[in-house]
Amino acid sequence: MVKLVEEIDESLSNPMWGQLRRPAPWEALAKAMERLQSPVVAIARDPALAEAARRARKICFCNTVDLGTIEDAIYAHGLTTVAAVTEHTKAVGGCCQRRIEGILVSEPSVTRQAVE
Ligand code: FES
Repeated sequence: MVKLVEEIDESLSNPMWGQLRRPAPWEALAKAMERLQSPVVAIARDPALAEAARRARKICFCNTVDLGTIEDAIYAHGLTTVAAVTEHTKAVGGCCQRRIEGILVSEPSVTRQAVE
């Protein structure tokens, strides 16, 4: 019985198990390939697709104003307030106020960077 326990203990502490548990090198490559094929990466690579994504993402639903229109107004006129954004776009700034504030304080979106 002691001999059996020693053999089991020896087998379990064999460094070979560590090597077998490590992910295969091709698994990291497969994950990297998945990331490259994600929609965000596709948009970042294609300016036309990025522009379409900016225009498709509505920020002010009450007046149907998209992210691209708001971002363009912010960067063209150096806007810093929601009131200024509502002046330069048709965004009302009511229920979408927080979304506009978020755009004002954030870096240009990935899609805008792709278009530039
Ligand atoms: S979404 Fe209602 S005011 Fe903009």
